[in-house]
Amino acid sequence: MIKSILCIGAGYVGGPTMAVVAKHCPDIRVVVADINAERVSAWQSGVPPIYEPGLAEVLRASLGKNLHFSADVDGAIASAEMIFVSVNTPTKTFGQGAGRAPDLQYWERTARSILQHARGDTIVVEKSTLPVRTAEAMERIFRSAGGRSRFEVLSNPEFLAEGSAIADLEHPDRVLIGGATTPSGQAAIQQLVEIYTRWVPRDRILTSNVWSSELSKLAANAFLAQRVSSINAISAICERTGADVVEVAKAIGADRRIGPHFLRAGVGFGGSCFQKDILNLVYLCETSGLPEVARYWETVVQMNEYQKQRFVRRMVGAMFDTLAHKRIAVFGVAFKANTGDTRESPALQVCRELLAEHAQVCVTDPQAIASARRDLGEAVSGLSFESDPYAAARGAHAIALLTEWAEYAELDYERIYAGMEKPAFLFDGRNHLDAERLYRIGFNVYSIGHPDRSRL
Ligand code: NAD
Ligand code: UGA
Repeated sequence: MIKSILCIGAGYVGGPTMAVVAKHCPDIRVVVADINAERVSAWQSGVPPIYEPGLAEVLRASLGKNLHFSADVDGAIASAEMIFVSVNTPTKTFGQGAGRAPDLQYWERTARSILQHARGDTIVVEKSTLPVRTAEAMERIFRSAGGRSRFEVLSNPEFLAEGSAIADLEHPDRVLIGGATTPSGQAAIQQLVEIYTRWVPRDRILTSNVWSSELSKLAANAFLAQRVSSINAISAICERTGADVVEVAKAIGADRRIGPHFLRAGVGFGGSCFQKDILNLVYLCETSGLPEVARYWETVVQMNEYQKQRFVRRMVGAMFDTLAHKRIAVFGVAFKANTGDTRESPALQVCRELLAEHAQVCVTDPQAIASARRDLGEAVSGLSFESDPYAAARGAHAIALLTEWAEYAELDYERIYAGMEKPAFLFDGRNHLDAERLYRIGFNVYSIGHPDRSRL
């Protein structure tokens, strides 16, 4: 029976995942360690460094009891029987595979720390999303030292989505555990299964070999992103033909073989993982001698780029081919609602392109302004931030809604319209607002996958 767990990496995955593990395993000591001392002290204070609905309550229930956060990674390794590795694995920006391959330096550094500081037999669990065969590389590092500890490496990819992380962790569709087919590999799988069965039904826990597990994670994200790119491709046809993408998605999704999820057309997918993981898959195909398969998956990312550019082109075209000196209120900069995360947010690219057109861009968001300031820069000419959406829209020529925050559907758009320059434009990048009503108020409305509702 495992009595002590360590998770290396206290980010969007490590923090929430371990808070839920600690909640369901009060007899297990759970430590989350990170080299980022500022992040660690935020977790220790009971105020999470990330915005995630329901997280603070789960955190505070176990904090200081069986859940602890630490900046002493090496010290924590020494006393753990099972170590989850949940460090970041961004796309490589240099050298071989730049722009595609994952940057594995954080992961390898962690492996070497584990090798150096582990005291007894240790199960190492890959939680980060990693290329196929990383676990094998890890084992080679562990074996190379021939030290006193024995290591068993498992792959246990995380499928939570930001904004619904706690619900996803509490009620996962499935938990996937990959391990070696050897008796010690199977025993390690069993130890991890025993942890999850505290709250996950046994038939939702799938076991496989390590490589299937690693590939399943990349494939799942690629399939999800592919659906978004597919419906976005259809949205472009809708705008030209008079079809309504919401109606088309409903009709397609009613087919049980297709299903209704991930068919919301929008300004493009964002987030830290979809693009990174598809590019990782593309790189894997290229280095495995499968160029046709690589090209196939690459089109998912290309369609996403097209969708973001198309959105800005439509804005420029509608606003008489010039945005120079026009104020544009950007409603939402987070990559989706219910998170403060702006990593790869389509809104950032839209803002940069609007600024390149010399527009005056005023960004508002309920949770992501601090993050957007870091991404876009503080003192950028033409760029401002405003926490109140009414103030952001005052005197604006246009609103671009880029994140589907619930509160944006509740605003008083009559009041907003009254304070805007005329003609007033509204570009709904998420099909989030009642376009017919906005049109009746007086706005010229441009929604994704709908023909223009314009009086011009
Ligand atoms: P993150 O950047 O929020 O957190 C990673 C943390 O690891 C950071 O706090 C960083 O300081 C820490 N770290 C890096 N190197 C370290 C080291 N050597 N020792 C200790 N700590 C170290 O990243 P994230 O969003 O939590 O993602 C982590 C992994 O999980 C990635 O591989 C990602 O693809 C995968 N994933 C993410 C999500 C998500 O929703 N964000 C979902 C599923 C899977
Ligand atoms: C995604 C997956 O859903 C998770 O299962 C996975 O664990 C995670 O990536 C990961 O590996 O990091 P996440 O990126 O947090 O989760 O959020 P999603 O809900 O998948 O949304 C991703 C992007 O696609 C967002 O920008 C969202 O607005 C967009 N999207 C999603 C659409 O445009 N339309 C949709 O129908 C669904």
